[in-house]
Amino acid sequence: TFSSVKSLLAGLPPEGSEINVQGWVRTKRESKAGIAFIALHDGSCFDPIQLVVPQELPNFEQEVTKITSGCSISATGTLVASQGKGQTYEIQVTKIEVIGWVDNPDTYPMQPKRHTVEFLREVAHLRPRTNLIGAVTRVRNCVSQAVHRYFNENGYCWIHTPIITASDCEGAGEMFRVSSLDLANLPRTASGDIDYSQDFFGKESFLTVSGQLNLEAYCLAMSKVYTFGPTFRAENSNTSRHLAEFWMIEPEIAFADIDDLINLAEDLLKYIFRCVLTECADDMAFFAQRVEKTAITRLEHIINHDFARLDYTDAIDILQKSGKQFEHPVSWGIDLQTEHERFLSEEHIGRPVAVVNYPKDIKAFYMRMNDDQKTVAAMDILAPGIGEIIGGSQREERLNVLDHRLAEMELDKEDYSWYRDLRRYGTVPHAGFGLGLERLVSYITGVANVRDVIPFPRTRRNADF
Ligand code: 4AD
Ligand code: MG
Repeated sequence: TFSSVKSLLAGLPPEGSEINVQGWVRTKRESKAGIAFIALHDGSCFDPIQLVVPQELPNFEQEVTKITSGCSISATGTLVASQGKGQTYEIQVTKIEVIGWVDNPDTYPMQPKRHTVEFLREVAHLRPRTNLIGAVTRVRNCVSQAVHRYFNENGYCWIHTPIITASDCEGAGEMFRVSSLDLANLPRTASGDIDYSQDFFGKESFLTVSGQLNLEAYCLAMSKVYTFGPTFRAENSNTSRHLAEFWMIEPEIAFADIDDLINLAEDLLKYIFRCVLTECADDMAFFAQRVEKTAITRLEHIINHDFARLDYTDAIDILQKSGKQFEHPVSWGIDLQTEHERFLSEEHIGRPVAVVNYPKDIKAFYMRMNDDQKTVAAMDILAPGIGEIIGGSQREERLNVLDHRLAEMELDKEDYSWYRDLRRYGTVPHAGFGLGLERLVSYITGVANVRDVIPFPRTRRNADF
């Protein structure tokens, strides 16, 4: 058995222990005295462990001298306190084996230097070997585990909502079609349309844009539920915050209104931030040093303050009175653009803000109508530097109002018969939101583009790797 670098640097095996470690070489240098120093990473923590390899080893000349960045290695030796600054322990190696060579060191793309994020995207299969992507990957894992822990500790049931669906939850028409039909020979109806009744599911089907509708069904039986999985959008936006495939955390709570929902969002985010700050302290120190100076302090600030809350109508007022020249003009009724969202959270408030009560005309059919008949009980949480990270609402639980909305939006009641049933049989006030995992990790780390916080980003014209 071998030890992780993390456990060794933490001094878990007592000093002087005989241990084995395995990983990939980041750098190697040789001292004048002929000792080789190897920095070995295994992904378990930010720092590498240093291997001190004496010349006396039988394979020193034949193998150790030929080791380069990227080689995989198994080393056995004694754990000793390190003299070097910034390192706790190192390994006095007694036996070293190369498991996998780098066939041509000159072509190895991951040279130990600073690479641009654009370059790293072109070597997405090797980029997890860099400090940056390694740290992002650990933080992303920490956030995901914290999400499950939070919901589990608070009595939520994890629901596995379907990936394939016939309904467009957001009504934005940005869905990827799933079909078993032969593209070269599509069956046609008498009127010449594609005959989806002959398709695998007997109707047009898509990759889900959100698990919400199915989640609502389970919410109205299990009370507190959430789903956490991949969602898909054929969105045309080529921006630093949109992906075609992204992961979404969606809680749904029964017997609850929009205020309960904002409280949940605040509590969940603060819980996640605390987990990241304690469990990924080294990674966060790296982000604070190299990516975003305020990476740590801003999370601490959020943990110690209440979220700001702002009515959409007041937000419009603030934007109009700001004296700023926005690219998209501001008037009541517009959908807030990233520049507006960033102004509100970054410049005006200086921390995350929950904006509530949006005009009904810019929001989905399922959001609960307010008494003014003009706005719905929607809430978005906007974060400095990125804009919207959460979108949610109280749901319309009154059948007659829902039917009125469906008709107004020219949606076919028949297509929503099961969703309407939930309002016919024991309906209750309920609410939920979606939190984009990539936007959250981007916010936490300060890594500006969501393409760099997901292992293999899918965007327009890019499904490589
Ligand atoms: O605001 P959205 O579209 O809300 C929904 O889908 C609701 N049905 C969720 C719910 O109430 N259960 O998306 C929710 C969040 C956004 O705030 C954003 O963080 C993220 O999902 N998101 C994206 N992230 C990356 N790439 C995209 N193309 C995204 N679209 C939305
Ligand atoms: Mg939204």
